[in-house]
Amino acid sequence: MAEQMINIKNVSKWYGPVQVLNDCSVSIDKGDVVVVCGPSGSGKSTLIKTVNALEPFQKGEITVNGIPLHDPKTNLPKLRSKVGMVFQHFELFPHLSVTENLTIAQVKVLGRSLDDAKVRGLKMLDRVGLMAHKDKFPGQLSGGQQQRVAIARALSMDPIVMLFDEPTSALDPEMVGEVLDVMVSLAKEGMTMMVVTHEMGFARKVASRVIFIDVGGRILEDCSKDEFFGHPENRQPRTKDFLNKILQH
Ligand SMILES: Nc1ncnc2c1ncn2[C@@H]1O[C@H](COP(=O)(O)OP(=O)(O)OP(=O)(O)O)[C@@H](O)[C@H]1O
Ligand SMILES: [Mg+2]
Repeated sequence: MAEQMINIKNVSKWYGPVQVLNDCSVSIDKGDVVVVCGPSGSGKSTLIKTVNALEPFQKGEITVNGIPLHDPKTNLPKLRSKVGMVFQHFELFPHLSVTENLTIAQVKVLGRSLDDAKVRGLKMLDRVGLMAHKDKFPGQLSGGQQQRVAIARALSMDPIVMLFDEPTSALDPEMVGEVLDVMVSLAKEGMTMMVVTHEMGFARKVASRVIFIDVGGRILEDCSKDEFFGHPENRQPRTKDFLNKILQH
Protein backbone atom coordinates (compact mmCIF):
# COMPACT_ATOMS: atom_id res chain seq x y z
CA MET A 1 0.00 0.00 0.00
CA ALA A 2 1.19 3.51 -0.77
CA GLU A 3 2.60 5.43 2.14
CA GLN A 4 0.56 8.46 3.17
CA MET A 5 2.58 11.68 3.35
CA ILE A 6 0.00 14.40 3.98
CA ASN A 7 -3.42 13.91 5.50
CA ILE A 8 -5.69 16.94 5.70
CA LYS A 9 -8.85 15.85 7.49
CA ASN A 10 -12.02 17.93 7.75
CA VAL A 11 -10.12 21.19 8.10
CA SER A 12 -12.09 24.41 8.49
CA LYS A 13 -10.74 27.88 9.03
CA TRP A 14 -12.30 31.26 9.66
CA TYR A 15 -10.96 34.78 9.59
CA GLY A 16 -13.29 36.35 12.13
CA PRO A 17 -16.78 35.56 10.83
CA VAL A 18 -15.58 34.67 7.33
CA GLN A 19 -15.05 31.01 6.57
CA VAL A 20 -12.12 30.51 4.20
CA LEU A 21 -11.68 26.71 4.41
CA ASN A 22 -14.79 24.56 4.59
CA ASP A 23 -14.36 20.98 5.74
CA CYS A 24 -11.37 20.28 3.47
CA SER A 25 -10.01 16.75 3.30
CA VAL A 26 -7.07 15.78 1.11
CA SER A 27 -4.85 12.74 1.36
CA ILE A 28 -1.53 12.73 -0.45
CA ASP A 29 0.60 9.62 -0.77
CA LYS A 30 4.36 9.53 -1.06
CA GLY A 31 5.32 10.42 -4.62
CA ASP A 32 1.94 11.97 -5.47
CA VAL A 33 1.83 15.27 -7.34
CA VAL A 34 -1.39 17.05 -6.44
CA VAL A 35 -2.33 20.18 -8.35
CA VAL A 36 -4.66 22.61 -6.60
CA CYS A 37 -6.60 25.12 -8.67
CA GLY A 38 -9.54 27.43 -8.16
CA PRO A 39 -10.61 31.04 -8.41
CA SER A 40 -8.85 33.91 -6.67
CA GLY A 41 -9.72 34.08 -2.99
CA SER A 42 -10.93 30.48 -2.83
CA GLY A 43 -8.37 29.53 -0.18
CA LYS A 44 -5.64 27.78 -2.19
CA SER A 45 -2.79 29.61 -0.46
CA THR A 46 -4.45 29.22 2.91
CA LEU A 47 -4.88 25.48 2.42
CA ILE A 48 -1.31 24.89 1.31
CA LYS A 49 0.05 26.98 4.17
CA THR A 50 -1.86 24.95 6.75
CA VAL A 51 0.26 21.96 5.74
CA ASN A 52 3.44 23.38 7.19
CA ALA A 53 1.60 25.04 10.03
CA LEU A 54 2.07 28.56 8.71
CA GLU A 55 -1.71 29.05 9.00
CA PRO A 56 -3.59 27.99 12.09
CA PHE A 57 -7.06 26.45 11.64
CA GLN A 58 -9.95 26.01 14.01
CA LYS A 59 -11.30 22.61 13.04
CA GLY A 60 -9.91 19.36 11.72
CA GLU A 61 -6.56 17.63 11.77
CA ILE A 62 -3.46 17.51 9.62
CA THR A 63 -0.67 14.99 9.76
CA VAL A 64 2.55 15.18 7.76
CA ASN A 65 4.50 11.95 7.48
CA GLY A 66 2.45 10.66 10.39
CA ILE A 67 3.23 13.63 12.62
CA PRO A 68 0.12 15.48 13.87
CA LEU A 69 0.36 19.29 13.60
CA HIS A 70 -2.18 19.80 16.38
CA ASP A 71 -0.19 17.79 18.92
CA PRO A 72 1.42 20.29 21.31
CA LYS A 73 4.38 17.91 21.57
CA THR A 74 5.12 18.25 17.85
CA ASN A 75 8.23 20.28 17.13
CA LEU A 76 6.78 22.56 14.44
CA PRO A 77 10.03 24.28 13.42
CA LYS A 78 11.60 20.88 12.89
CA LEU A 79 8.65 19.65 10.87
CA ARG A 80 8.62 22.85 8.81
CA SER A 81 12.29 22.38 7.99
CA LYS A 82 11.30 19.13 6.24
CA VAL A 83 8.53 20.74 4.20
CA GLY A 84 9.95 22.71 1.27
CA MET A 85 7.92 25.74 0.28
CA VAL A 86 8.21 27.82 -2.86
CA PHE A 87 6.10 30.95 -3.17
CA GLN A 88 5.09 33.22 -6.02
CA HIS A 89 7.72 35.73 -4.98
CA PHE A 90 11.04 34.10 -4.55
CA GLU A 91 11.87 35.60 -1.19
CA LEU A 92 15.60 35.18 -1.55
CA PHE A 93 17.71 37.36 0.72
CA PRO A 94 18.73 40.23 -1.58
CA HIS A 95 21.90 41.06 0.34
CA LEU A 96 23.22 37.48 0.25
CA SER A 97 24.87 35.74 -2.68
CA VAL A 98 23.19 32.77 -4.31
CA THR A 99 25.49 30.39 -2.44
CA GLU A 100 24.78 32.13 0.87
CA ASN A 101 21.05 31.95 0.18
CA LEU A 102 21.43 28.21 -0.37
CA THR A 103 23.43 27.54 2.78
CA ILE A 104 22.06 29.83 5.50
CA ALA A 105 19.06 27.71 6.56
CA GLN A 106 21.01 24.48 6.31
CA VAL A 107 23.50 25.88 8.81
CA LYS A 108 21.06 27.72 11.08
CA VAL A 109 18.14 25.30 11.07
CA LEU A 110 19.69 21.91 10.33
CA GLY A 111 22.99 22.60 12.09
CA ARG A 112 25.11 21.54 9.12
CA SER A 113 28.68 22.73 8.79
CA LEU A 114 29.17 25.47 6.22
CA ASP A 115 31.24 23.09 4.08
CA ASP A 116 28.54 20.42 4.08
CA ALA A 117 25.89 23.03 3.38
CA LYS A 118 27.87 24.34 0.42
CA VAL A 119 28.31 20.88 -1.07
CA ARG A 120 24.60 20.18 -0.77
CA GLY A 121 23.51 23.67 -1.91
CA LEU A 122 25.74 23.71 -4.97
CA LYS A 123 24.62 20.23 -5.93
CA MET A 124 21.04 21.48 -5.93
CA LEU A 125 22.06 24.64 -7.80
CA ASP A 126 23.61 22.45 -10.45
CA ARG A 127 20.41 20.43 -10.56
CA VAL A 128 18.41 23.52 -11.51
CA GLY A 129 21.07 24.43 -14.08
CA LEU A 130 22.50 27.54 -12.42
CA MET A 131 25.97 26.61 -11.21
CA ALA A 132 27.48 29.45 -13.25
CA HIS A 133 25.56 31.94 -11.10
CA LYS A 134 26.65 30.77 -7.67
CA ASP A 135 28.43 33.99 -6.71
CA LYS A 136 25.82 36.43 -8.00
CA PHE A 137 23.24 38.28 -5.95
CA PRO A 138 19.52 37.68 -6.52
CA GLY A 139 19.11 41.12 -8.13
CA GLN A 140 21.52 40.06 -10.87
CA LEU A 141 19.33 37.14 -11.90
CA SER A 142 16.15 36.98 -13.96
CA GLY A 143 12.87 36.13 -12.27
CA GLY A 144 12.97 32.59 -13.62
CA GLN A 145 16.51 32.11 -12.39
CA GLN A 146 15.61 33.47 -8.96
CA GLN A 147 12.72 31.06 -8.73
CA ARG A 148 15.01 28.17 -9.66
CA VAL A 149 17.39 29.27 -6.90
CA ALA A 150 14.43 29.30 -4.51
CA ILE A 151 13.65 25.71 -5.53
CA ALA A 152 17.30 24.71 -5.09
CA ARG A 153 17.27 26.34 -1.67
CA ALA A 154 14.22 24.33 -0.63
CA LEU A 155 15.76 21.11 -2.00
CA SER A 156 18.98 21.75 -0.07
CA MET A 157 17.03 21.09 3.12
CA ASP A 158 16.27 17.49 2.03
CA PRO A 159 12.51 17.99 2.16
CA ILE A 160 10.14 15.05 2.44
CA VAL A 161 7.51 17.04 0.57
CA MET A 162 7.49 20.21 -1.55
CA LEU A 163 4.70 22.78 -1.51
CA PHE A 164 4.44 25.30 -4.34
CA ASP A 165 2.13 28.32 -4.31
CA GLU A 166 1.78 29.70 -7.85
CA PRO A 167 5.53 29.51 -8.48
CA THR A 168 5.29 30.79 -12.04
CA SER A 169 2.52 33.34 -11.89
CA ALA A 170 4.79 36.33 -11.24
CA LEU A 171 7.17 35.42 -14.07
CA ASP A 172 7.44 36.79 -17.57
CA PRO A 173 5.93 34.22 -19.94
CA GLU A 174 9.25 33.22 -21.47
CA MET A 175 10.58 32.22 -18.03
CA VAL A 176 7.67 30.03 -17.01
CA GLY A 177 8.95 27.03 -18.96
CA GLU A 178 12.35 26.84 -17.29
CA VAL A 179 10.75 26.74 -13.83
CA LEU A 180 8.11 24.21 -14.88
CA ASP A 181 10.85 22.02 -16.38
CA VAL A 182 12.56 21.84 -12.99
CA MET A 183 9.24 20.99 -11.33
CA VAL A 184 8.44 18.32 -13.90
CA SER A 185 11.80 16.64 -13.33
CA LEU A 186 11.26 16.73 -9.57
CA ALA A 187 7.86 15.13 -10.02
CA LYS A 188 9.30 12.44 -12.26
CA GLU A 189 11.93 11.64 -9.65
CA GLY A 190 9.19 10.85 -7.19
CA MET A 191 9.08 13.96 -5.01
CA THR A 192 5.80 14.35 -3.16
CA MET A 193 4.39 17.68 -4.31
CA MET A 194 1.35 19.85 -3.62
CA VAL A 195 1.23 22.58 -6.23
CA VAL A 196 -1.13 25.54 -6.46
CA THR A 197 -0.99 26.48 -10.12
CA HIS A 198 -3.13 27.33 -13.11
CA GLU A 199 -0.55 25.82 -15.45
CA MET A 200 -2.77 23.07 -16.77
CA GLY A 201 0.00 21.85 -19.08
CA PHE A 202 1.99 20.98 -15.96
CA ALA A 203 -1.05 19.29 -14.44
CA ARG A 204 -1.63 17.23 -17.59
CA LYS A 205 2.00 16.17 -17.70
CA VAL A 206 2.72 15.09 -14.13
CA ALA A 207 -0.24 15.48 -11.78
CA SER A 208 -1.49 12.37 -10.06
CA ARG A 209 -4.59 14.27 -8.99
CA VAL A 210 -6.22 17.63 -9.54
CA ILE A 211 -8.18 19.41 -6.83
CA PHE A 212 -10.55 22.29 -7.49
CA ILE A 213 -11.49 24.60 -4.62
CA ASP A 214 -14.36 27.02 -4.94
CA VAL A 215 -14.83 30.36 -3.22
CA GLY A 216 -15.64 29.73 0.42
CA GLY A 217 -12.85 27.17 0.64
CA ARG A 218 -14.79 24.08 -0.33
CA ILE A 219 -13.15 21.30 -2.32
CA LEU A 220 -15.47 20.60 -5.24
CA GLU A 221 -13.30 18.15 -7.15
CA ASP A 222 -10.55 15.74 -6.24
CA CYS A 223 -9.85 13.28 -9.01
CA SER A 224 -7.17 11.80 -11.21
CA LYS A 225 -5.86 14.04 -13.97
CA ASP A 226 -7.29 11.67 -16.58
CA GLU A 227 -10.71 11.99 -15.02
CA PHE A 228 -10.31 15.76 -14.54
CA PHE A 229 -9.28 16.54 -18.11
CA GLY A 230 -10.76 13.57 -19.94
CA HIS A 231 -14.32 13.64 -18.66
CA PRO A 232 -15.61 17.20 -18.61
CA GLU A 233 -19.14 15.79 -18.51
CA ASN A 234 -18.46 14.62 -14.95
CA ARG A 235 -17.18 17.97 -13.72
CA GLN A 236 -19.20 20.37 -11.63
CA PRO A 237 -20.53 23.41 -13.52
CA ARG A 238 -18.27 25.70 -11.41
CA THR A 239 -15.21 23.69 -12.43
CA LYS A 240 -16.12 23.77 -16.12
CA ASP A 241 -16.71 27.48 -15.93
CA PHE A 242 -13.32 28.00 -14.30
CA LEU A 243 -11.49 25.76 -16.77
CA ASN A 244 -13.10 27.53 -19.72
CA LYS A 245 -11.85 30.84 -18.35
CA ILE A 246 -8.28 29.81 -17.71
CA LEU A 247 -7.89 27.72 -20.84
CA GLN A 248 -8.95 30.65 -23.00
CA HIS A 249 -5.59 32.33 -22.59
N1 LIG B 1 -4.97 37.67 6.96
C1 LIG B 1 -6.21 37.59 6.47
N2 LIG B 1 -7.25 38.15 7.11
C2 LIG B 1 -8.50 38.05 6.65
N3 LIG B 1 -8.83 37.40 5.52
C3 LIG B 1 -7.85 36.82 4.83
C4 LIG B 1 -6.49 36.88 5.25
N4 LIG B 1 -5.72 36.21 4.35
C5 LIG B 1 -6.57 35.76 3.41
N5 LIG B 1 -7.84 36.12 3.68
C6 LIG B 1 -9.03 35.76 2.92
O1 LIG B 1 -9.09 34.36 2.83
C7 LIG B 1 -9.61 33.96 1.58
C8 LIG B 1 -8.67 32.95 0.95
O2 LIG B 1 -7.43 33.59 0.62
P1 LIG B 1 -6.27 32.85 -0.12
O3 LIG B 1 -5.13 33.79 -0.20
O4 LIG B 1 -6.04 31.53 0.50
O5 LIG B 1 -6.90 32.62 -1.56
P2 LIG B 1 -6.24 32.10 -2.91
O6 LIG B 1 -7.15 31.04 -3.45
O7 LIG B 1 -4.83 31.74 -2.66
O8 LIG B 1 -6.34 33.36 -3.87
P3 LIG B 1 -5.33 33.86 -5.04
O9 LIG B 1 -5.65 33.03 -6.24
O10 LIG B 1 -5.73 35.27 -5.27
O11 LIG B 1 -3.94 33.70 -4.56
C9 LIG B 1 -9.80 35.22 0.75
O12 LIG B 1 -11.14 35.57 0.80
C10 LIG B 1 -8.95 36.24 1.48
O13 LIG B 1 -9.50 37.51 1.32
MG1 LIG C 1 -3.01 32.45 -3.38
